[in-house]
Amino acid sequence: MTNINLFDNYIKTPLNYTGNKSRLLEQIIPLFPKKINRFIDMCCGGASIGLNVINQSQEVVCIDINRPLIELLQTLQLFSENSIISKAEEIIYSFNLSDTFNKGYSVYKPYVEGNNGFKKYNKNGYEKLRTFFNSSQLETGEKSIYLLVLLSFCFNNDIRFNSSGKFNMPVGKTDFNASIREKLHSFKQGIKNKNIKFYFSDFSVVKEFELSENDFVYCDPPYLISNAVYNNSNCQHSAWTEYQEERLLDTLDFLSQKGIRFALSNILSKEGANNTILQKWIEKNNFSVVDIEYHYRSSSYHKINRKSNEREVVILNYDN
Ligand SMILES: C[S@@+](CC[C@H](N)C(=O)[O-])C[C@H]1O[C@@H](n2cnc3c(N)ncnc32)[C@H](O)[C@@H]1O
Repeated sequence: MTNINLFDNYIKTPLNYTGNKSRLLEQIIPLFPKKINRFIDMCCGGASIGLNVINQSQEVVCIDINRPLIELLQTLQLFSENSIISKAEEIIYSFNLSDTFNKGYSVYKPYVEGNNGFKKYNKNGYEKLRTFFNSSQLETGEKSIYLLVLLSFCFNNDIRFNSSGKFNMPVGKTDFNASIREKLHSFKQGIKNKNIKFYFSDFSVVKEFELSENDFVYCDPPYLISNAVYNNSNCQHSAWTEYQEERLLDTLDFLSQKGIRFALSNILSKEGANNTILQKWIEKNNFSVVDIEYHYRSSSYHKINRKSNEREVVILNYDN
């Protein structure tokens, strides 16, 4: 791998998405063609990949089936950084949540217990905010900023809705801190004047796109043998099952038959479980498999993944 430094200043996403590819950009993006006409991310999540290919492609289309997520990305794209921050701070003050960025840590120190950050201080206000968010009729842009605040304060900063579409994450340790503001700034700077679209849909919509040979499709779906919050059957979207996996692979077959190049992120094995559907599909089509190395850079990431003994790969239908 030659271009390690290319990703030192990568564009960050303010959505701390489970399974996001921010730490793996320098291994994944160099596998893509150097010049892309239209880049399509079929399951974009926090858009960490799409945001970082905008210099090597004319147009980026980020698709996801999670409507509030797509509306939030659209809002972040549309609104100015100042207006996002001032609306977020207005929400934080009206629900009496911690604001370590403006007020410092010492104000909240008496409430911090062990490793729980600002959980105790924020629990009450956070739950009121979540109820308000779930029960109020807010205009889309405003609702998205409420969601951004909820995500900054919730457990693990994860995005999860129940089957009735209600946001249901419990309070977490963090707040709308310097790190999330820095990511928001990076996102706003990175997408300035760039042709990037966020699109709410099932991934299969790509079959309806008029694609040409210089277009490129990336996909990072939920993993069949993993249990991220967005795989869960209690969530708003149907669980990621073998049926979904087959449907995705059929869609990728459709693209391949049209001569469209794609890259698919996935895990082939984890803690003794194997994704045999995927393995058979790779063998049948003779696709290339590139292993992703966790120890590539971040040592903490390495530790977590070495323990879980998983094989993460990127599958390509072209020679790179
Ligand atoms: C592993 S995450 C993607 C993470 C992303 N690559 C990132 O770096 O943030 C998988 C995503 O697939 C989305 N998804 C699940 N089912 C989908 C479907 N049928 N169509 C499109 N997106 C789907 C989920 O909402 C989730 O955002």
